Amino acid sequence: MSKPAPARSGPTTAVYPGSFDPITRGHLEIAERASRLFDRVIVAVGRHPTKAGFFSVAQRCELIEESLAHLANAEAGSFDGLVVEYCRRRNAKIIVRGLRAVGDFEPEFQMGLANRDLAPEIETVFLIPRPEQQFVSSSLIREIAGHGGQFERYVTPSVADALHERLKPKTRQTDA
Ligand SMILES: Nc1ncnc2c1ncn2[C@@H]1O[C@H](COP(=O)(O)OP(=O)(O)O)[C@@H](O)[C@H]1O
Ligand SMILES: [Mg+2]
Repeated sequence: MSKPAPARSGPTTAVYPGSFDPITRGHLEIAERASRLFDRVIVAVGRHPTKAGFFSVAQRCELIEESLAHLANAEAGSFDGLVVEYCRRRNAKIIVRGLRAVGDFEPEFQMGLANRDLAPEIETVFLIPRPEQQFVSSSLIREIAGHGGQFERYVTPSVADALHERLKPKTRQTDA
């Protein structure tokens, strides 16, 4: 008896959406793992309609490109509006998200369900980061960097340079 034809054919494109403000080694590990699972990975910055962010979307994309330079099948992108619509435009059938132990499950589960409702043909795939990367977040890095702490090991050298550059004028300490 012959088996039914597989549901998918051709190369698989995955979109890894997020703020990436800026991209961290935690994000990068997820992108690296996704690049081994899928033919093409687009690390895509979602443009927030009201929040400007710390780095501009263009700069975040540039830093993503630099951080992904070693991955031949990964690239940066950006989008307005719904991630599922962006996936459709890019012909991506997979959304990749990172799932950290603390705090991520609830919002990720809700968003995954919403995206499935909006676009049943798109599958969300959650990748679990290495335990030692789990506490790393863009906001934590901005916080450490803003207070002059050692943040460099959590990001790539180009992101570290961009943060140093961005924070240059405000290095004065004001302890009471
Ligand atoms: N240290 C990390 N390890 C693994 N995944 C992470 C890490 N930091 C963030 N992520 C995941 O990367 C994705 C994008 O995160 P983020 O840039 O904060 O954008 P968003 O605003 O969508 O949360 C999310 O799925 C998030 O859970
Ligand atoms: Mg987040």
